Amino acid sequence: MTTTGLAEPFLRAQLETLGLAVEYVRAEGDTLYRRGEDGREIPVLDLVGGFGATILGHHHPEVTSLAQELLAAQVPVHAQFSLHPYAETVARRLNDILRRETGDPGPYLAVFANSGAEAVEAAVKHAELDRGLKAAALLERIGESIERARRAARDGAPLSPAAQRLADGGDFEALAAAVTAVNRARAEEPPVLLALSGSFHGKLIGSVQLTHNPAVREPFRALAAPCRFVPAEDPETLAAAIAEERRTVLGLALCGGAVDLVEHQLPRLCALLLEPVQGEGGVRPLTAGYAREVQRICAEADCPIVVDEVQSGMGRTGTFLASSAIGLRGDYYVLAKSLGGGIAKAAVTLVHHGRHRPEFELLHSSTFAKDAFSTLIAARTLDLLEADGGALYRRAAERGERILKQLSGVRDDFKDVVVDVRGRGLMLGLELRDQSDSPSPVLRELSRAGVLGYAAAGHLLNAHALRVFPTASAVTTLRIEPSVGITDARIDQAEAALRALCEVLRAQDGERLLGR
Ligand code: F0G
Repeated sequence: MTTTGLAEPFLRAQLETLGLAVEYVRAEGDTLYRRGEDGREIPVLDLVGGFGATILGHHHPEVTSLAQELLAAQVPVHAQFSLHPYAETVARRLNDILRRETGDPGPYLAVFANSGAEAVEAAVKHAELDRGLKAAALLERIGESIERARRAARDGAPLSPAAQRLADGGDFEALAAAVTAVNRARAEEPPVLLALSGSFHGKLIGSVQLTHNPAVREPFRALAAPCRFVPAEDPETLAAAIAEERRTVLGLALCGGAVDLVEHQLPRLCALLLEPVQGEGGVRPLTAGYAREVQRICAEADCPIVVDEVQSGMGRTGTFLASSAIGLRGDYYVLAKSLGGGIAKAAVTLVHHGRHRPEFELLHSSTFAKDAFSTLIAARTLDLLEADGGALYRRAAERGERILKQLSGVRDDFKDVVVDVRGRGLMLGLELRDQSDSPSPVLRELSRAGVLGYAAAGHLLNAHALRVFPTASAVTTLRIEPSVGITDARIDQAEAALRALCEVLRAQDGERLLGR
């Protein structure tokens, strides 16, 4: 058997075909270094930024030096089931920030994790615990109502016409059995999870069902609760979906001296998940108007909102939370990626105290979550974001506007090959035109195979030392997520490279795109 390796050899072969099989040997700021044939380092401008994990850039000096100090001081990384003052510091700081941005006094309780998908799943798992406990409490109250009705029936209270119909002509015990059977069947229906078309919430067994792309979701649909997807910016469809999923359970009460049926709303809605700016789905910000409607619809239906800020959060869009800028308030917030300062694996789920269930703390855990190394790095990262009265957030907004302006210039000059540029702050996308009908067989083939964006990335890397990637679910959108430290010169360099790419596409020069 011949193989190119054992660590994901298929992926490696793909990277080779597209000119993306590169080893990076060092990283700093917005630069990744590869090694040239003469052994010297070649800088590559990195606008992928760890898919949004490096808002501070690679190896921010203060984060890296803290990491070195922690290791030198032999700070215990693992001390499970003991006090974790560092985790407490992170939770408190996050609460201060959330209070400032959302106006909600909270507090939000923190559950730590290691990755975005894991933290998303912790949010959903918590929401399901809450839903299950609420449903159980309702069914218990209903059981009590049946007992009261039983006593009344013994004392001679008749059954109402509706109760008689359900009892199918039988006595009170027939009615009680029918009510219990109906309730049991309804309570056993799976919970309802809602997310938006184009969403990305992770790739673990649970979270992959919340990720819209059918290619990554469907092979695993038998393993976890399915999700109902609704189009973004369409509140009517969301409201209709919620109405359709409504279920009631039955209780009994005395009404005008007779035993009658009463309906109670069964808590069926586990959660609605959304990204304030969809990242992997092609960089699509939600509008404030939609956020307002979502908030209203979910409040009416008592559906918890999980705001997935894994990619959009941590100041990337010009506020700590992208959701706060559109007035969207979450029952849950999920943060990861840049929380680890570009070097640690850190994630956190924040649960509004109004929904928090203390039981969860004993039901959920992970060996590495909340370790001293990652939480101390996260705390320092938050310090750096919050320094100088929010200067970093203003800079993210200002840098983002500058890049967006330059990208808009590229779009205006190359309308034949660029469809759109969009985004907020340092979360931007440039959408290339599909080339499925190109006169160039190479471009046609790449486009039809869904890899035009990757071929463009390979070209930018090899011809212009620029690293960008399309997103897996929006294959022609190049994602641009630099650090907040990106300089004017680097922005100009990126613009020049993108213009050169557009020239190649305009010339329908597939061979040149592939560097042949
Ligand atoms: N939620 C969002 C909004 C994400 O963008 C991602 C990852 C996750 C959850 C999962 O986080 O990878 O740490 O488990 N997004 C990457 C991307 C993979 O390509 O946008 P993870």
